[in-house]
Amino acid sequence: MVAYDARNTNRWLNMDEIVASRLTRHRVPPVVAVPGILEDVSRGLFSTPRYMPPKYFYDERGSLLFDAICETPEYYPTRVEEALLRACAPDVIEQVRPRHIVEFGSGTARKTRHLFDACGRSGSAAAYWPFDVCETMLRDSGMRLVQEYDWLQVNALVGDYSGGLAGLPAREGRTLYLFLGGTIGNFTHEEAVAFLSEVRGLMRDGDALLLGADRIKDEDVLHMAYNDAAGVTAAFNLNLLNVLNREVDADFETGNFRHQAVFNGAASRIEMYLVSQCRQSVSIGALDRRLQLEAGERILTEISRKFSPEGLETLIARAGLAVRRHYAPDDGWYSLLLAGVGDAPVT
Ligand code: AVJ
Repeated sequence: MVAYDARNTNRWLNMDEIVASRLTRHRVPPVVAVPGILEDVSRGLFSTPRYMPPKYFYDERGSLLFDAICETPEYYPTRVEEALLRACAPDVIEQVRPRHIVEFGSGTARKTRHLFDACGRSGSAAAYWPFDVCETMLRDSGMRLVQEYDWLQVNALVGDYSGGLAGLPAREGRTLYLFLGGTIGNFTHEEAVAFLSEVRGLMRDGDALLLGADRIKDEDVLHMAYNDAAGVTAAFNLNLLNVLNREVDADFETGNFRHQAVFNGAASRIEMYLVSQCRQSVSIGALDRRLQLEAGERILTEISRKFSPEGLETLIARAGLAVRRHYAPDDGWYSLLLAGVGDAPVT
């Protein structure tokens, strides 16, 4: 593929430039204040019960560890969601016929390819708007995608979707919004309703949201998925302490903590904790404060909610959306919901 750039420089473009011409970058400014890590530490670690928001897991090492979790035999959600997405992608594209695909928390955008493949096969080109905090990840995955799909325009959105969605660039034509990976499970019910309502606020007639969510299942299966034998999830959880050591000048000893993941049946969620193994005092340099922990005391680092089909459909309805399709494998291990605005028949 070659292109002649007569308008600007009057010379032939090289391959990199051609590819890059289909990759743009936009910053999405926060419209509501996003608390910084110092604020989250002083609010979360010094309260009862102690907690930290799970977003701090994902520094460079944490993101690699999360990828490694997805490769463990016990962690099924990634594989199950991908197989389901591959199977339903043609139907999703046929239903929505999107001109734009906006993905919240796009990461490496590995699974999203199934939707691009379906677009390619049905001859409907779309622009992809991956929204992520990590700019290097957006550049690397964006470069790969524009090389792989010669019709694809990628407009990378750099920002934190917890800062609100009002700063998203305006688009013309139908948009398919994606929130995949089961990340909705990290939100409390109220947070999930608030986020989905905000997405609903962006949507116009014909737009749709594809939401991925993990389902309630055998407790042993859930337990093993968050307690893999190789200890990858444990390393991922403990890495939060390295993040805190670096970002708020703390002196956590990872050896003084243990990974714990338990299924709370009443709340229908996995809870991940870091358990203090001894009575200890940890310095938080940036706050000029010390954290006193008793032996056995826990810090909640993540909730991962597991849904029933009814629970999911109620959540969608509470956000002012209507379920158009509910895709699930026969064993009911995972759900992908396609929702639109206004009244639409449930199928
Ligand atoms: C990326 C939030 C969906 O909750 O299962 C994996 C993160 N934590 N193992 C999940 C995670 C521990 C994951 N999500």
